[in-house]
Amino acid sequence: MTTQDKGTALITGASAGIGAIYADRLAREGYDLVLVARSADRLEQLAKRISETTGRTVRTIAADLTHTQDLEWVEEALTTDARISMLVNNAGAGSTAHLQDLDNASIERMIALNVTALTRLARAAATAFVARGGGTIVNMGSILAVAPEVLSGGVYGGTKAYVLAFSQSLLHEFGDKGVRVQVVLPGATATDFWELSGTPVEALPSNIVMSADDAVDAALAGLKLGEFATFPSLPDINDWNAFDSSRRALLPGLSRTTPAPRYGTGG
Ligand SMILES: NC(=O)c1ccc[n+]([C@@H]2O[C@H](COP(=O)([O-])OP(=O)(O)OC[C@H]3O[C@@H](n4cnc5c(N)ncnc54)[C@H](OP(=O)(O)O)[C@@H]3O)[C@@H](O)[C@H]2O)c1
Repeated sequence: MTTQDKGTALITGASAGIGAIYADRLAREGYDLVLVARSADRLEQLAKRISETTGRTVRTIAADLTHTQDLEWVEEALTTDARISMLVNNAGAGSTAHLQDLDNASIERMIALNVTALTRLARAAATAFVARGGGTIVNMGSILAVAPEVLSGGVYGGTKAYVLAFSQSLLHEFGDKGVRVQVVLPGATATDFWELSGTPVEALPSNIVMSADDAVDAALAGLKLGEFATFPSLPDINDWNAFDSSRRALLPGLSRTTPAPRYGTGG
């Protein structure tokens, strides 16, 4: 890669919604692309449009990331394509059903996609990026990571809390090895996600819904600002910084030899 060459961004969940906007924006910034999702037709159409409008090279991988074999193909692409310099770990699925109404297959699919696939792809990318001297990993979280009360059906929010915690671990392990880590935590965003999750986006109060274009533009601006956690709509990032400082202030007391005095037990 030359100094001007940004390399290739691999984007999961690129056939629609937030991922498709990332594809458009990153191609305009000069990245070549590898677009991943299940629907080959939608990926091909998007790849054609983007390569015609930007002149970038756009490849597609039709893969269901909940299937082990497909996941391995994408891991292999991250490992073997030395031009890949960025992973946008965006594919995700949700459900607005109450926990007692969720069937086991839906629970397992959400965890397989939002947790297992995201983790395995991040691991493949982080390892490859260290060997390549650097790279960027963007993990798609959600405000539900810190505000699970906002939506019913705790599994989806739980997977996004995992994405935040996992991103913190990734930063801890790889941040000083040239790997840039960002976790993006959007609020409600106007995509097909809502319809697919069981609630049309039109059912939400319109004053809490952001367009996917605005959410991605803010996320990319947050990346350029050097943010680890980007909340597209949070007005003051110092509110997050204070929240995270409170968490860090707990650290010295979290693992000690004696139970806390308030329990009246132990030595
Ligand atoms: N929309 C919101 O309000 C919101 C808010 C916060 C966070 N997020 C997060 O943002 C990310 C993108 O969501 P979105 O709103 O853009 O949703 P979306 O419009 O439903 O797009 C989801 C993308 O993921 C792909 N996908 C779904 N299942 C897949 C699978 N098993 N294997 C591979 N790809 C799969 C879909 O393509 P195919 O169907 O072609 O596979 C599509 O490209 C998700 O992680 C979501 O949790 C969304």
